[in-house]
Amino acid sequence: MSSIFSSFFGKDLPPSIWKSNVLYLPVQLSTAHGDFLTKKNWMVNYDPEASGGKGGESAEEAQEHVTHRFLNSAARMQFVCSDPNDEQPEFRAMILDQLGDGDICLLDLAAGNGAGTLAILSLLCELRSHDKIPKLPLNVSICGVDYSPSALTYYAELLGDITPWLESFGISVTLNLNVCDLTISGDFSEVFESFIDAAKKNNVKRFICVISAISGAKKEGVEQMHDSFKIAAAGLSNKSRSSSWLWVEPHVGKSWPSKFADSLRLTLQKVVHKFRPKGDSYEIETTVPLLSPPETRSFDWHDPHNDRTAKSKVFVMAFKSN
Ligand SMILES: C[S@@+](CC[C@H](N)C(=O)[O-])C[C@H]1O[C@@H](n2cnc3c(N)ncnc32)[C@H](O)[C@@H]1O
Repeated sequence: MSSIFSSFFGKDLPPSIWKSNVLYLPVQLSTAHGDFLTKKNWMVNYDPEASGGKGGESAEEAQEHVTHRFLNSAARMQFVCSDPNDEQPEFRAMILDQLGDGDICLLDLAAGNGAGTLAILSLLCELRSHDKIPKLPLNVSICGVDYSPSALTYYAELLGDITPWLESFGISVTLNLNVCDLTISGDFSEVFESFIDAAKKNNVKRFICVISAISGAKKEGVEQMHDSFKIAAAGLSNKSRSSSWLWVEPHVGKSWPSKFADSLRLTLQKVVHKFRPKGDSYEIETTVPLLSPPETRSFDWHDPHNDRTAKSKVFVMAFKSN
């Protein structure tokens, strides 16, 4: 994965988002989240230690996730995509390159309140605002898929809040929300078809699929979504399309997420493989090398709502179609 962004380093990050080894979310994003909680009277309950880590179909779970976990989820994604310590620069280069300019369609699977994707867009905007990357016109069409209508509504509200800031630096975003249970692959297939139809209509050939923080659904839950994910990987593998995948999770200490990621990578790259359960994980039979197990990285981030430094852990699985 070589790009002009291979020469972007952690030292190039502005102190507004990385200072003294601590990550700061762009102030526009954290303020949008703070205003959102205040408007809904939820700020008084803010407790980053509270439950609500996995989100869910019910309005209560969606409220808990957006209240307590939004910032942590966003911080994880920002850490991966900005890579302050230059530990996995190929993933940073992939994101900066794919989202550098022009038209791109972004498929946000189990999007929830959009913390991961909003963090990517905010990072790009912050880097643009500090003249760290070019301010070329960028149009991102997001297809957000989740079975929680409430979470998707929060996604739209939070995006709406940062839209003027994004637009002032050349980033234009459209958000198409789809309430869909990813365990029902027939339903997802319909959503995916419309996503591709819209891309064709607009002559977009560049795609990125984002998965962020779904491991709370556990192995069994993710297994049930696997068919839908494979539909997306197979559809994006079309040779007329250039596609990237970014999957970011907190530490889970198990190998099954990377097995799912590998099966999606092989589907996206059209490589013959067999995927089957083995023990408490899975095994993959194929002739090509598998991804090395992702390393969990720890980092500190500043929580703007309580002015404390918090610790977080993250691992990333990323790959491209070609
Ligand atoms: C922890 S949240 C992550 C939200 C967001 N992607 C982020 O970056 O923080 C997990 C999301 O997965 C969604 N989810 C879980 N099972 C699902 C399913 N079967 N179909 C659709 N969405 C699902 C939940 O509704 C929730 O919004």
